Amino acid sequence: MMTSALTEFRRDGFTEIPAFIPASQVRALQTSADDLITSFTERGYRSEDFWFFERPSGDAPVLYRVHNLERQGSPVIASLFAGGPLHGLAADILGAPVRSTACAMIVKLPYVAAAVPWHRDRTSVPAHTVCNLSVFLDRSADNGCLEFVAGSHLLPDGADVAAVSGAGPATAVPAQAGDVVVHDVRAVHGSRPNGTATIRRSIVIEFAPAGLSLPRDG
Ligand code: NI
Repeated sequence: MMTSALTEFRRDGFTEIPAFIPASQVRALQTSADDLITSFTERGYRSEDFWFFERPSGDAPVLYRVHNLERQGSPVIASLFAGGPLHGLAADILGAPVRSTACAMIVKLPYVAAAVPWHRDRTSVPAHTVCNLSVFLDRSADNGCLEFVAGSHLLPDGADVAAVSGAGPATAVPAQAGDVVVHDVRAVHGSRPNGTATIRRSIVIEFAPAGLSLPRDG
C-alpha cells in the first residue's frame, strides 16, 4: 500500500486503491454475484439476508443488499472474508492486526436502484479504528458511485448528518471493477440512484482491530 493512501484515509476518511483485486478473481466474484442476484430476480429465492424494496407500481421487488454475504454458499466470497490480501490491506490502513466483522453485497440494479441516504456506518468507535473495504465488481460512476464528505470521520459522534451532507462538499469516488475503496466507518457517505443500464455491485467487508469488540448497532 502506498503511504499516500494512508495519508488520504486519515485526512479525508476514505481512499481508493486501484486494481487491487486481480482480474481472474474479479471474474470469479462476478460469477458468484450473478448467481446470488439471479437466484432472487429469476428463481424466486427469498431470505432475511436478501434486502429488497417493493415498488408502488407493483412491479418486481428491487434487491439492494445481500447481508451476511460470506454465508450465502459462495466459496470465493467466503475465502475473501476469511483471510488474504484484503486483511493485509486493512491491517496496513488501521496499523493493527485485524479481523473481518461483517460482509455484504451492495446491488444497484439498472434503472430501478434507489439512493442510499447519507449516513455514517458507526460512530461508537474512534476515528481511524474501524474501516470498510468496498470491492467493486463493476464500473461505478454515474450509476450510483460512493460519495463522501471529506474529513467528516473526524466530526463528533452526534454530528447532524443531514446538515453535514447538505453543507458538503461531496466527493464522488468513481471506481473500476477490481478497485477497492477504503473508508472510515465514521465518514458521512451515500450514493445516488442508478438511472443507467449498467449494474453496479460492490462487496463490502468491515475490519476492526483483532482485540476490539464492536457493538452490534452498526
Ligand atoms: Ni455505509
